[in-house]
Amino acid sequence: MFPGHDGMPDFSGRGEDLDTALEVLHGTRATGIGAVVAVTGEAGIGKTTFITELRERAVGDGFATGRAAALESGGIAPLAPLLTALRSGPAPVLSQADFGALATYASRPIWLVDRLTGQLRARATATPILICVEDLQWADAATRYVLRVLPAQLVSSAIVWLFSSRLPLDAIADDVAVHEILLGPLPLSVPEAGGNPLLAVALTRGQVAEAVRHMLSSLPSTAKELLTAAAALGPSFTVESLGALPDHDALARLAREGLLADDGRRLHFRHELLRQALLI
Ligand SMILES: Nc1ncnc2c1ncn2[C@@H]1O[C@H](COP(=O)(O)OP(=O)(O)OP(=O)(O)O)[C@@H](O)[C@H]1O
Ligand SMILES: [Mg+2]
Repeated sequence: MFPGHDGMPDFSGRGEDLDTALEVLHGTRATGIGAVVAVTGEAGIGKTTFITELRERAVGDGFATGRAAALESGGIAPLAPLLTALRSGPAPVLSQADFGALATYASRPIWLVDRLTGQLRARATATPILICVEDLQWADAATRYVLRVLPAQLVSSAIVWLFSSRLPLDAIADDVAVHEILLGPLPLSVPEAGGNPLLAVALTRGQVAEAVRHMLSSLPSTAKELLTAAAALGPSFTVESLGALPDHDALARLAREGLLADDGRRLHFRHELLRQALLI
């Protein structure tokens, strides 16, 4: 199962979510009908760890799998997250020859989708496939478009598409079953971590500031500034206490990223450790 960290307990806590995802994989393998699994949750909550575990199980169950992530920096080229996923690992989903044949379509996503559809359909007749694309909050427009269209075009093939994001994934794919897995807080022994394993691990290593920087990396600067100002108001605060013209877009973003919780009257920092780090 999941590894422990420098004296941290081995706190898996994701058995049910793993079972849900495995059921989807087994359903697709049995029926030959494609599906999408959408894994969401705040920064550091364990999306990558969960996906790594799932991929290991999938390989054991006879799936070909590939994985890649969109990058904060925007990446090297449009569609890089998907194309890298298809050539990743010791047994890539696409052969070198198939991959090479896509090169001429790199700047023409519509034609690329057509070619790729044929390649993946042929591959899935022999082996069920799990394709994981992580961190869609950073994906380029072409990747988002292709990942929306491909699962629908390949719904009659044994392919499970797994997407992850720090933000809720809206309008993921048309005409395909979408299974949503929201990774919630883990029952950790450090309450100030708010159930976030990245923060808990960082605390044991004396690296909370780095962890907090990482957790804020997908926020627009307006949201970062607002969160830093709010930290001085205490663990919870009212919208009015932010001043005459609170930035409602920034507040909504902070709630969508799971950093603030709204009980209808007050906003609460979800991680006391993060709030304290913002005060330094
Ligand atoms: N269930 C778990 N059991 C033990 N450790 C975990 C678990 N989930 C995550 N961790 C640890 O917490 C840290 C953050 O996990 P991970 O990188 O998977 O988060 P993430 O959701 O992918 O974050 P990001 O949004 O930044 O990509 C890692 O050190 C990881 O090993
Ligand atoms: Mg991750």
